[in-house]
Amino acid sequence: MRVLGVETSCDECSVAVVEEGRRIMSMETLTQTAIHARFSGVVPEVASRAHAEMILPVASAALERSGCSLDDIDLVAVTNRPGLSGSLTVGLAFAKALALSRSIPFVAVDHIVAHAYAIQLDGASPVPVGYPYITLLVSGGHTVIAVSRDVETLEVLGGTIDDACGEAFDKVASFLDLEYPGGPAIERLATGGDAEAFAFPTARLGRRARPYDVSFSGLKTAVIHQRERFRRPGAADSAANVAASFQKSAIDVLVDRVDAAVRSTGITTVAAGGGVAANGYLRERLMSLPAVASILPPGELCVDNGAMVAGLGYHMYTRNGPSSADAGVRARVPLFRSS
Ligand code: KG4
Ligand code: ZN
Repeated sequence: MRVLGVETSCDECSVAVVEEGRRIMSMETLTQTAIHARFSGVVPEVASRAHAEMILPVASAALERSGCSLDDIDLVAVTNRPGLSGSLTVGLAFAKALALSRSIPFVAVDHIVAHAYAIQLDGASPVPVGYPYITLLVSGGHTVIAVSRDVETLEVLGGTIDDACGEAFDKVASFLDLEYPGGPAIERLATGGDAEAFAFPTARLGRRARPYDVSFSGLKTAVIHQRERFRRPGAADSAANVAASFQKSAIDVLVDRVDAAVRSTGITTVAAGGGVAANGYLRERLMSLPAVASILPPGELCVDNGAMVAGLGYHMYTRNGPSSADAGVRARVPLFRSS
């Protein structure tokens, strides 16, 4: 079965053709980063307009590169939750129109569950990864630590109680006058800095927090407003030192939670996804967790992409059949606390 997967939940417009849920025949991803850079963040109204302009050319390019014609597509899969309503609506309307015009089924899938599925694609792992595994999803909109029990079941252990991890990188980068998106810029600057120069605090969580929850807003405030308090004697107050120390604090707390989840569940496979999973320090730390097999997809499968949607869509369709013709979009899914 060949599935065309459509992802437009935020600022990536991505379409892929995937066979039997695993083999990526083609994928085209057009990011809107340059469009949103001058606003230092994604502007929802601008994003949905850009998706409306891009979706057809992106889908045509993906089809062409796969060597398939529309006659070869058996199913259309699309993200319909969570995300920006306007952006999701463009993808959903496109997917429904395509399915209707070709008399083929369509299936709407959850974006977070799709990220957790990404390691099952052949571009991420040469063989299917056995369940269960611990999923760490860290992006500009989400920070989730979960157990992936099977293709469609994510047991959320914890997540951010305030800012998403990528959002904290973006805000600290903006404070340091770095370009948007801030994650890669912080990482580059951090390579020349001393990660021990500032002892930034790890988050203090309230009593209502779950054991695996994290918080980034206190860290962000410490960096932006109180960094002198946390500077070690003799360390220089340089941007590179701030970037390196911030990166270490933000990533270490995530790795601590993953390590705790591995210990308490006994699950020794860890998958990472989301834009922050491209961070070299995070990857290095996950790879060196003792007795753990970490599966870190290449960047194009960490960020929002149509292949994870097509792959998950294949399984959702074979298990549960097509989605209802009147399926709509949902900006938020309460199970997954997103910022
Ligand atoms: O998954 P993604 O492309 O888009 C969504 O948020 O859905 O993630 C983008 C986020 C941004 O906040 C960006 O600053 C962060 O991922 N990011 C990174 C790195 N590359 C991207 N954060 C830290 N280090 C990186 N190398
Ligand atoms: Zn995402």
